[in-house]
Amino acid sequence: MNKLDIKLWTLAAKGEIVPKRSLLKTPAQVRAIRKSAALNTALLNYISKHIRAGISTAEIDRLVYSFTTKHGGIPAPLHYQGFPKSVCTSVNNVICHGIPSEKELLKEGDIINVDVSTILNGFYSDASRMFIIGDASPRAKKLVQVTKECVELGLKAAKPWGHLGDIAHAVNTHARANGYSVVEEIGGHGIGLDFHEEPFVSYVTPKGSEMVLVPGMMFTIEPMVNEGSPDFYIDEENDWTVYTADGGLSAQVEYMVLVTKNGIEVLSK
Ligand code: MF3
Ligand code: CO
Repeated sequence: MNKLDIKLWTLAAKGEIVPKRSLLKTPAQVRAIRKSAALNTALLNYISKHIRAGISTAEIDRLVYSFTTKHGGIPAPLHYQGFPKSVCTSVNNVICHGIPSEKELLKEGDIINVDVSTILNGFYSDASRMFIIGDASPRAKKLVQVTKECVELGLKAAKPWGHLGDIAHAVNTHARANGYSVVEEIGGHGIGLDFHEEPFVSYVTPKGSEMVLVPGMMFTIEPMVNEGSPDFYIDEENDWTVYTADGGLSAQVEYMVLVTKNGIEVLSK
């Protein structure tokens, strides 16, 4: 056993949840995943230049597919567990996993989450942004702003050898202080060698709980914040799209991060 194995073993003996060694990326893996993440971020920058009122979500899907493949990547959502498109586009009361459609035209006042995930040379990256189309209501703008703040506060709360629950606590506290709720059953995930790796990342668990943040871990910070109740239902026809149960607005921002010895590094946002 080396020093790290002993440290992990000692923590586990104290009842802490520690990652398997396979979840800790090697320097070579980190280098490869960084390239995937850089392409993923470039893709979000590209989408942000084209998104506007009048565009269909199917057009966003085409932009994602063409940009990604032109740069040697593959959109990870395409055919993932039967998902039919290259990107998730979640508008207004859609919490996540919205499916792009020709029939869905963005209009002034909409808020939309564009969630892009990229495979480059077999390595995975994932991030999402909120966009406000034209001038939205103060209510919509505030939800988007607070959701961005939640992710930034979650990021600040994350420290090597801290816990995933520290992030959740920061996110949930800020959402609730603004009268919002955080979706409980859907959360973030490990990422890098696969699209969805361990651990599941909750944003409603207590400070000091859940997995220890060990250098080499990679995961997403992606809370879904609802203006009303956190309850949801899934579209019965497509079995993907997640809607707020009460019809209220929902927002989500996703950063992909790496735990290092010195802190937390954002790989894609
Ligand atoms: N980016 C989403 C996530 O964070 C991907 C959902 S799976 C898909 O997990 F098939 F809808 F893309
Ligand atoms: Co994700």
